[in-house]
Amino acid sequence: MSETALRLGVLASGRGSNLQAIIDAIEAGRLQARIEVVLSDRADAHALDRACGHGIKAVFVDPKAYAARDLFDSAVVGALRAHQVELVCLAGFMRLLTPGFVAEYRGRIMNIHPALLPAFPGLHAQRQALEYGARVAGCTVHFVDEGVDTGPIILQATVPVLDDDTEESLSARILVEEHAIYPRAIQLFAEGRLAIKGRRVIILDGDRVRS
Ligand code: GAR
Repeated sequence: MSETALRLGVLASGRGSNLQAIIDAIEAGRLQARIEVVLSDRADAHALDRACGHGIKAVFVDPKAYAARDLFDSAVVGALRAHQVELVCLAGFMRLLTPGFVAEYRGRIMNIHPALLPAFPGLHAQRQALEYGARVAGCTVHFVDEGVDTGPIILQATVPVLDDDTEESLSARILVEEHAIYPRAIQLFAEGRLAIKGRRVIILDGDRVRS
């Protein structure tokens, strides 16, 4: 692992397949990053087991132990700071971040969402796309702001919606693309190639070095 590897903190609430895609990209040398810590708001999140399986520190932060959301978020931010995390990756983390958290890591929090934002934000995005009758669905990696899935878009990938699709079959097709674009977006950040200009994210050319 390179000395200059980007220090990641991953937040996940469940299965952790996007976490696994990040781990796989790092282990394959496609992503110059190191996961310093995986944090979960669920003790039973499979993401925690995946982290442990790869020798990555995995921590359950119990929301019930905190009287308010901002106290929970302060604990999470404290853990991220303690690990000198440079980029926070939400990977199926099913809680909204408080404004204090966003302010602490502005421009340094990414999320993966299973829809072509700004269509279908929030929960059950794939079901929303199917019920709406969309012909094309997909996924989005975006920076996180104070809104629900509203931050500047980094990468998107599309998949067709087929006539016989179920929520499960469409979700599975989208998930393949999630696993491709999330590590790619993180690598662009690691290379210092993402510039946020208002709502737009400009992808800079070449081999710029992270400052
Ligand atoms: C993924 O499909 C991700 O896009 C979605 O949750 C799933 C987590 O799967 N996130 C959201 O809906 C956030 N709004 P994973 O735990 O296997 O990565």
